Amino acid sequence: MDVAVLEREAAAVLPDFVYDYFRASGGGPESLTRSIAAWRSFLHRPHVLRDTSRIETATTVLGTPVTSPVLVAPMAQQVAANPAGERATAAAVAALGTLLGVSTNTAVPFGDITATGAPWWFQLYVLSDRELTAVLLDRAVQHGARAIVLTADITGLAHPSPGAAYSVEPGEWGPEAGASAARLGNLTPEERERLHGGSIARDSGLPVIAWIAERTGLPVVVKGVLRGDDARRAVDAGAAAVLVSTHGARALASSIPSAFALADVVAAVGSEVEVYVDSGLRSGTDVATALALGARAAFIGRPVMWGLATGGEAGVRRVLETFTAELVTAMDLLGAPTLADLTPDLVVAP
Ligand code: FNR
Repeated sequence: MDVAVLEREAAAVLPDFVYDYFRASGGGPESLTRSIAAWRSFLHRPHVLRDTSRIETATTVLGTPVTSPVLVAPMAQQVAANPAGERATAAAVAALGTLLGVSTNTAVPFGDITATGAPWWFQLYVLSDRELTAVLLDRAVQHGARAIVLTADITGLAHPSPGAAYSVEPGEWGPEAGASAARLGNLTPEERERLHGGSIARDSGLPVIAWIAERTGLPVVVKGVLRGDDARRAVDAGAAAVLVSTHGARALASSIPSAFALADVVAAVGSEVEVYVDSGLRSGTDVATALALGARAAFIGRPVMWGLATGGEAGVRRVLETFTAELVTAMDLLGAPTLADLTPDLVVAP
């Protein structure tokens, strides 16, 4: 699948300001272009004469079985891509047997997502109002979230993006999307009002990991880790897994791409906890590279959003199915019939 073509189709159907928000990356488009190019800069050393007549992509993530290591990243404001928002995304995920992350900034009530049958992890921004943060966590648990993904790479609700100004502050949305109410759909209007002017806490240190784990009884995945030493500290502080991510190049524009950060993180903690990766993956071949470098699974962001915008549930399904089909092809050509056969020696770093 040419994701760039799908993106152009999405751009044609979305209001400009919505497309710009989905597409935006820190400091302008270069940071995202670099993230995508980073995956493609790895080369492969395929095996030959291996029996690939049966290729197996099923695995587990934190104990949840999934048919494929291609998972859906938590993304805000999906109702701006399609009125069904995460209901459609989750329905596609349920049909395929994978898993999705659900953003703090989803407009869709948790119960609607659970009703699709898809397993989901709640992505948490620790808000400066800790009580409301706890309310969100309690509701996520009540509705069946299976893990908490603590996003650690964005502090403050506005992303630093001088090249393409965008923000998740409700007031920044244009009237067409009606999206100003479409944020924090799991808080009551009164709670949202109380949060008004509030933001993501900037003072959450490592102890917040244990606080979340105790509050919820769920495993905590720390998202946005780009360094082995941070991964080590997160795991020592109680993280059950780490997600190597540049937030799709939406955080610090000059960060190294997650493709280049993954091996360091895997070396630091990969023998103890599951390591996942996202940002810039645009094909199943990129997923194969990520798994060979030690990731347990890969989360896909914008390509899913483009699928949702152009085709709703069926569009998301097509994107996920295509990534998995491409992964199967890559495994076949690499002579790696199982996920365990995707080993670092198959990959040559640029
Ligand atoms: C995101 N991402 C994100 N991450 C998060 O932890 N909480 C969030 O609310 C959001 N919202 C969000 C909105 C949009 C429109 C995008 C594109 C991304 C980041 C997301 O989880 C993931 O890290 C990246 O999208 C992965 O990169 P790619 O696949 O988009 O390149």
